Amino acid sequence: AGSSAPQVAVIGTGYVGLVSGACLAEAGWRVACVDQVEAKITKLKAGVIPIYEPGLDEVVVRNAEAGRLTFTTDIAEALREAQIVIIAVGTPTRKLDGNADLQYVYAASRDIARSLKHYAVVVTKSTVPAGTGNEVRRIIERENPGLDFDVASNPEFLREGNAVSDFMKPDRIVIGTDSARARERLEALYRPFTDQGFELISTDIISSELIKYAANTFLATKVSFINEMADICEKVGGDIGAISRGMGSDKRIGREFLKPGPGYGGSCFPKDTLAMVHIGEKALSPATIVEAVITVNRSRPHRMVAKVVQAAGGSVDGKTIALLGLTFKPNTDDVRDSVAVLVAEQLVQKGATVRAFDPKGMEHAREMLGDAITYCPTMADAIGDADLCVLATEWEEFVRFPLEGYREALRNPILVDLRNVFSLEAMAEAGFEYHSIGRTS
Ligand code: NAD
Ligand code: UGA
Repeated sequence: AGSSAPQVAVIGTGYVGLVSGACLAEAGWRVACVDQVEAKITKLKAGVIPIYEPGLDEVVVRNAEAGRLTFTTDIAEALREAQIVIIAVGTPTRKLDGNADLQYVYAASRDIARSLKHYAVVVTKSTVPAGTGNEVRRIIERENPGLDFDVASNPEFLREGNAVSDFMKPDRIVIGTDSARARERLEALYRPFTDQGFELISTDIISSELIKYAANTFLATKVSFINEMADICEKVGGDIGAISRGMGSDKRIGREFLKPGPGYGGSCFPKDTLAMVHIGEKALSPATIVEAVITVNRSRPHRMVAKVVQAAGGSVDGKTIALLGLTFKPNTDDVRDSVAVLVAEQLVQKGATVRAFDPKGMEHAREMLGDAITYCPTMADAIGDADLCVLATEWEEFVRFPLEGYREALRNPILVDLRNVFSLEAMAEAGFEYHSIGRTS
């Protein structure tokens, strides 16, 4: 009240928590970002961003310097005058059954309940199954009987690598509430965005929770669909790029998320498709389409490896393979569930020496692959004298690298492109033996 204490507290300062906190501060709110990992908060206080996300450092530093964005491990301090408390902790796959593991959400709810002394809206931004909002409510009621509060849902749709712009210029904002009071608070939170014309969709809590899974699993469906079409092209002829354009130009279908590749990876689609299937099973209303989407995606790494083996003349045993890209997509350092990492593992198992380079993902890849592969300091080191090159992630640096450069560096001009970044004509002209996805040449 009249102080400079944070109005918004964000619990969990990972990708989503940090981006949301920084962007809400950019929109004018005083925001405290809380994390239990001390090292993360210490770094952030010193202006060091623990993840690679283009443009995020500027937003964080600008708002921290303006005093609107603070970092703490002390949840009570962050909640002192907060009117809105956003839960943005992880919801990874629970190994046991594929469901989202809600232990971090529940623990955060308990932490919030113990520190909250006044009315606030507790908003779940983490991706959570239908009904989680009710469970969060029960936990807070149990831990802090008599507290006046509301729960709400506000799923996040940002993409890694594009996170700041996705947050600041959203296709839509979704809020799920069950009281006028909570709805008004959340509408006020997003007024700086709706005032600029960005759409806000207001619904009930369960619908809001399900919208997130519906959106992610539908996008994953588009990816598996186009990948399956690409496989068919490889058998019957045709160019998947033309097919993608031809079908995507229909506004009802849409051009995006129809790029064929090694299969979707990352921290979201793999886990959210699994969780959706679990939600369907539990409700005795199976998500059959999503089950098929997962099956198609699971076959991708194996198919990609088979492509490399074929390009290598039937065996990769004893061959040196340059692997360009380890992250699950460009402009991130995230290698969680990255198909490139799976491909690397399988190539090594088949006797290949893998020399990898990724502009941002090397450190995290090393945590997963250890000494199984060689981490090259530059792209040129990776391709130098390799028997063949596999392009697994479409980083700009790889796409821009001159074809003559590839030719001169490689022992043989063989390129397996899992992202279809080069044209068949250019590759043929440059004298490459070129293997890509869903294009017969
Ligand atoms: P993350 O693992 O990067 O970050 C989670 C953070 O929460 C960690 O820093 C962890 O230390 C912290 N944390 C956990 N429990 C805590 C507690 N009790 N108190 C304080 N801090 C705590 O996860 P993420 O990628 O940001 O994902 C968070 C959620 O958002 C997930 O549900 C995910 O599905 C969803 N989501 C992610 C993305 C994305 O692109 N990464 C996009 C949209 C939605
Ligand atoms: C995805 C969604 O796009 C976000 O809207 C959502 O908020 C987020 O998940 C989440 O819930 O966490 P993200 O995982 O960052 O974002 O990355 P995407 O750009 O969606 O890519 C996912 C995977 O699909 C990548 O491996 C990418 O290479 C692959 N992909 C994507 C394709 O193979 N083809 C395409 O056409 C698009």
